[in-house]
Amino acid sequence: MRIAIGSDDIGLPLKDVLAGYLAELGIEYVDFGARDAEPVDYPDVAKVVAREVRDGRFERGLLVCGTGLGMAITANKVRGIRAATVHDAYSAERARKSNDAQIITMGSRVIGPESAKTVLKAWLDSEIQGGGSTRKVAKISELEAAEIETAEGASTPPSEEVERVASQR
Ligand code: RB5
Repeated sequence: MRIAIGSDDIGLPLKDVLAGYLAELGIEYVDFGARDAEPVDYPDVAKVVAREVRDGRFERGLLVCGTGLGMAITANKVRGIRAATVHDAYSAERARKSNDAQIITMGSRVIGPESAKTVLKAWLDSEIQGGGSTRKVAKISELEAAEIETAEGASTPPSEEVERVASQR
């Protein structure tokens, strides 16, 4: 398995710890920055890592910023990418088994290095479990494709749920 990794300047110390852990595990990775404390905007790094994964040059991606949130929000804008912010081992496992997340993100201001290693390992050791999970992930892809096809500025009709809530006002 090859992993693309990246961080902003805030996530750099944790990313370095996790890079060392990947090396310990014998897992090949390529670091797409940041390389030093020079400020770098998280979307710039998330974009590169997400596209590397989308294009199949890497099976998975790992992104670190202060919270993990900006990295996930950005990576999820890249077509076909499912990025999940995870700070516990159970969620990391489910991110693969239920959501087929090719990318996980973590926050250096949220989780300590040892816990982050445990989270990373749980994700590395898990795979999509098939069955209902595969069907649900396919629905995410269908939604994404439909959204891309929707003309700019167009909107979809209100859903039944929205109408029901509105009529109760
Ligand atoms: C700093 O830009 C901070 O916002 C970033 O590291 C990350 O936490 C964003 O989600």
